[in-house]
Amino acid sequence: MLTNEIRARLIQLAGEARQWAYAPYSNYRVGAAALTSSGRFFTGCNVENASYPNGLCAERVAVFKAVSEGEREFLAIAVVTGNGGTPCGACRQVLAEFGLDTMVLIADAEGNLKQEARLSELLPGAFGPGDLGK
Ligand code: THU
Repeated sequence: MLTNEIRARLIQLAGEARQWAYAPYSNYRVGAAALTSSGRFFTGCNVENASYPNGLCAERVAVFKAVSEGEREFLAIAVVTGNGGTPCGACRQVLAEFGLDTMVLIADAEGNLKQEARLSELLPGAFGPGDLGK
């Protein structure tokens, strides 16, 4: 169970990471912060590209940073946008790879928590490692 202190920390970190968003095309800036089971925090922002499909969402930047440093268990991830937007399907799928129990916190730029849900609720019927015998 997440504490309010951890919720606040995740939203704060995601909001701070959002300042680094590189989003000259959409102007939709996103920040994310993930907490792993070993207690480490990893942040990310969206990074766009002139060749549009090559950009990456904030959530996946945070997750890939964590995985690239040996972390594979995510307790929670917060995503902060200007309007409290929800994580895209691709980011849900990437999170699902590492477990469906991850809590997802969705907040706006003022730090208001708009929604909190388990990944299994956000991606019901997820395709995952088990489907490939892993
Ligand atoms: N974006 C994210 O970073 N996370 C999401 O879950 C939704 C979309 C980014 C991608 C792109 O840079 C911009 O928001 C507009 O789609």
